[in-house]
Amino acid sequence: MTNKQPDQNHAKIAAARDFISANLPIALVPSIPEIRLYKAGPQSGLWRLAEQDQEFGSPYWAHHWGGGLVLARYLLDRPDAAAGRRVLDLGAGSGIVGIAAAKAGAAEVIAADVDPYAIAAIGLNAAVNGVTILPVLTDLTKGEPPATDIVCVGDLFYETALAKRVTAFLDLCLARGIEILIGDPWRAHLPQSRLRLLAEYVVPDFGAATSSRPSAVFAFERKTPRQSRGDEDQS
Ligand SMILES: C[S@@+](CC[C@H](N)C(=O)[O-])C[C@H]1O[C@@H](n2cnc3c(N)ncnc32)[C@H](O)[C@@H]1O
Repeated sequence: MTNKQPDQNHAKIAAARDFISANLPIALVPSIPEIRLYKAGPQSGLWRLAEQDQEFGSPYWAHHWGGGLVLARYLLDRPDAAAGRRVLDLGAGSGIVGIAAAKAGAAEVIAADVDPYAIAAIGLNAAVNGVTILPVLTDLTKGEPPATDIVCVGDLFYETALAKRVTAFLDLCLARGIEILIGDPWRAHLPQSRLRLLAEYVVPDFGAATSSRPSAVFAFERKTPRQSRGDEDQS
């Protein structure tokens, strides 16, 4: 998706923006009354986008995720974590985490996603919430981190291969002196041995309209000497 010609992506993002603003309702966000987001509902007709575009993937950007909800709540409750700092929202989806960082007073927010529909949604959601965010359509896990002070990761540990790539990228960020916050509902591929628990909230997760589950905010930390030695032993 991201290796398409820039103007092809541009056209897709523009069409997605028109579709979202015409068809998706702007909804309140559970546990986050400070933020409203375009959200898929029964009448949204997202299947029409899928019919027009063979590359249309899962519309993560049109839903709330436990990891994003807790990380957004954390940033709003503790604005010092983001205020005055450059924030990267990695795997931004709807942009909820970046929006919370901007509301907390971040100096600059970049929201990165590999899905052009997410890029469209992030721009619209930022406008609805009266904040400025720079959406970028790229897979940042493939290279050097951009200039930033803190990387926020909401719910990006849901697949084995992706979790490995994200963890390697976060290690590179740590090596560059960048702080990392993760929000996650304890999914299977969360790198738990590298995390320090900062806060826990009970929030709805995707697909759980009526039930909630504990989700947590963590600091991602350097490997301990013992973990590094273990890596060497395995190589
Ligand atoms: C489960 S959603 C979470 C969205 C948002 N962070 C939240 O918590 O609401 C995961 C998002 O990560 C994006 N994603 C997956 N792989 C990615 C990558 N390598 N780089 C950036 N975004 C990625 C997906 O397109 C999707 O929008």
